[in-house]
Order: sequence, then C-alpha cells, then structure tokens
Amino acid sequence: MKGVVLAGGLGSRLYPLTKITNKHLLPVWNKPMIYYPIQCLVNAGINDILIVTGGNSAGHFLQLLRNGSDFGLRRISYAYQEGEGGIADALKLAEHFAEGDSICVVLGDNIIEGNIKRAVDDFKKQGGGAKIMLKEVHDPERFGVATVKDGKVVKIVEKPKAPETNLAVIGIYLYDPSVFDVCKTLKPSNRGELEITDVNNEYVRRGNLTADVLQGWWTDAGTFESLYRAATLIKDGGANRMDL
Ligand code: G1P
Repeated sequence: MKGVVLAGGLGSRLYPLTKITNKHLLPVWNKPMIYYPIQCLVNAGINDILIVTGGNSAGHFLQLLRNGSDFGLRRISYAYQEGEGGIADALKLAEHFAEGDSICVVLGDNIIEGNIKRAVDDFKKQGGGAKIMLKEVHDPERFGVATVKDGKVVKIVEKPKAPETNLAVIGIYLYDPSVFDVCKTLKPSNRGELEITDVNNEYVRRGNLTADVLQGWWTDAGTFESLYRAATLIKDGGANRMDL
C-alpha cells in the first residue's frame, strides 16, 4: 500500500490567504496544513508517499518537507499538477508511482483526530475494490454525501442541494490499482473538474465499495470557518492520535 496526498488547487475559498501561497502550506494551529495528512498516512504504517501539488508555491513543498525526516521517512516523492482539473485529475499523476499497488489517498486539507490503521488493514483483506470513510455532519451540502441501505453505500452525490442523509464522504480513500483506469473514463462535472465522487460511484456500480464510519473528529480546512475550526480542534485535543 502506498500513500498519496493531494495538495494542488487554487484554494480560492481562502482568498486572499492563498493568493501567493498554496492552501496546504498555511498554518493550522502549530504546523503547516500538509503535515497532518502526511502524519495520518505514517500512523497507518504507510511510508511510501507521493505529494501531488501545483499552483502557487509548488517548490515550497520540497523546501518544507525535504526527504521526510520530520515524519521518520527516508524519502518523499513529488508530482506536479498542471492546471485545475480536480481531485481525480490530480490522482491520475499517481499511476506511475503506484506501480500496480493499492493506494491510500488523503486530501491535503483533511485532518482527523484519530487514525485509519484499522480501515487500511481491513481494506488489505478486502481483495480489491475501494473503501471510503463517512462522518455525520451538520452541513452535508458542502461535501460528497452517501446514501447507505442495509449497511451498503448505494450512491454518493457531490454537494447536493437537498442531501438525502447527513453522512459526508471524508477525503480519505482506499483504492485498488484499477482506480487509474476509472479516472481515465471520467468526464468533467458542472464545475469543470474530474470528481472523486464519480470515481467512488463507479466502485458502487461494480458492487465493491465498502465504507466505515470514522471514529473521532474530522474536518476539512479549506474555508475560513473550517480552517479556524481545525486549529481549535487540534489545540484542544490534538490530531492523528494513536489511541483512537
Ligand atoms: C472534496 C470532495 C468531496 C469531499 C470533500 C472532503 O470536496 O469533492 O466529495 O466530501 O472533498 O473534504 P472539495 O473540498 O474539493 O470541494
């Protein structure tokens, strides 16, 4: 299993903070945002990690993270996303890195209180397909939203105006190597991006998407509200705790 952190995009919801720098380099309490998704992967036992970035200050990631010694890593791989094609477009850049292995993808602005080790171990036993993680939220219209029947995800809708449930799909995904073929079949959505939700719905269609409800808090940090919330949650309780 290899790890991929997606850290591109314009971060336009955080203008003017992101006018000259990349969202994932902004401070969240006492660390740069990207430290949290990297630590999340390392805590799950995933040590071979690719950072996909682009946009502003892409070179700063190399300067900041170097070879990963802050995380006990011997090396970090990097890829550069041209343009603004969306999450599934950025994921395409991980195909060579994955070399036919399964991957754990973490969105660079997603931060969790606990760890995903059990989900990663369960996915390894699953024998292919994909696994997503869900969390009950009070503002599901901001996220991909899952409808679950008899314990199975039957559909995911990206930012629905009238959500059927309050189960947000968080930005941590486990995929078998066929994910790259799925990415190549996608068409841009209304916002002009290749959507990770379309990738996940393809696995729903194939009948091999599993879902777990995440323990502990989860937040994104891509808006002013959520960036502030993330800092407060970390200050008060810590992130990426191994006891959760
Ligand atoms: C993305 C995904 C969405 C997911 C969210 C988690 O949204 O498209 O399905 O729920 O991340 O943070 P974005 O932040 O790109 O709008």
